[in-house]
Amino acid sequence: MGDSVRLGPFQLEHPFILAPMAGITTSPYRRLMRRHRAALVISELVSAHGIEYSGQRSLDLLRFHEEERIVGLQIFGEDLKLLCKASQWVEKLGADFVDLNLGCPVPKVVKKGAGSALCRDPLWLGQILTAMVKSVQIPVTIKIRIGWDAESKNAWDVVQAATDAGVSWVAVHGRTRSQGYSGFADWDFMGDLKAKSSIPIVGNGDLTTPELALEKLKKYGMDAVMVGRGALRNPFIFEQAECLWRRGEGQGQKPLSGEDYSSWLQEQRTLLEEVYEPRVAMIHARKWIAWSSAGFQGCHEFRRLVFSTSDPETLWAESKIFFEKKTQARDLQFLAQPFLMGGHG
Ligand SMILES: Cc1cc2nc3c(=O)[nH]c(=O)nc-3n(C[C@H](O)[C@H](O)[C@H](O)COP(=O)(O)O)c2cc1C
Repeated sequence: MGDSVRLGPFQLEHPFILAPMAGITTSPYRRLMRRHRAALVISELVSAHGIEYSGQRSLDLLRFHEEERIVGLQIFGEDLKLLCKASQWVEKLGADFVDLNLGCPVPKVVKKGAGSALCRDPLWLGQILTAMVKSVQIPVTIKIRIGWDAESKNAWDVVQAATDAGVSWVAVHGRTRSQGYSGFADWDFMGDLKAKSSIPIVGNGDLTTPELALEKLKKYGMDAVMVGRGALRNPFIFEQAECLWRRGEGQGQKPLSGEDYSSWLQEQRTLLEEVYEPRVAMIHARKWIAWSSAGFQGCHEFRRLVFSTSDPETLWAESKIFFEKKTQARDLQFLAQPFLMGGHG
């Protein structure tokens, strides 16, 4: 495999990118993942209405750090004018690209005609995308599902509308809207889409190990693949996938050392405490630490401790002890079990 890959107008160091996840892919998390070799990061979905009416929460979600580049900010909405204005706002903030959420299955979003509902009418969607692309200089990208339900897998129509509008790439979560997070991502379907498409396609769904990420990338000829939940349980997944991609499959990985884990913990702490007040930093730290402990011996007792302590010093000290001791004994089958089956895309 080569030294770098092209994705739309960007040259990426490798083809493994971080999926947007609401409440999780905050600026400190994105910085952490860039340090741990995610080739590109995207914010969680931010409401175009919220941006227009200067909702503080929306504006907070749009903050990013220079260290995150290449970084995209994701918006959602159903109103053409507001989506164009939100895109311009994203451009003004200096983000590298603006991503439109077209995969969110959540009823509150879909009922208003946003998220995955916008894909039900590819003609109208095409008009929105054309207007968005015209309204900014930065690239416009989209993230979709393969269709509304098993009877209407219309992702190809959406890809065509996006191509005509000048969208830079389409990321596809290989489930339908009605599947939510059940079943499996349909990689064969995404592979067909990729084979027919003249614009880059990014495949996404159920990549829980670095081996799987590389396998799907190659088998389906994807331009890049996107990893979400897999990175929560294995924060080293990007560097491991990159390593496999560069050195070839079957080359084996350097096992993670206790030191790898303690410096990862230290980085988390520094980043969280730089951005948040102690109480909020604890909320994020607990989640990050608990997810990453999955499958290690004693993870259940450890999680109980993580969620019962309110003292940051205890949290970080106990985590250091836990991860330093457990790095070699992980139940990999556990990692493939369904996890966090709800989200906005
Ligand atoms: C908790 C959670 C929040 C999510 N939030 C978003 C979001 O804000 N925008 C989006 O496009 N997708 C969102 N998603 C969907 C993911 O980006 C991804 O498409 C999905 O999790 C499948 O990939 P995975 O199996 O690698 O996790 C979210 C998923 C989860 C689990």
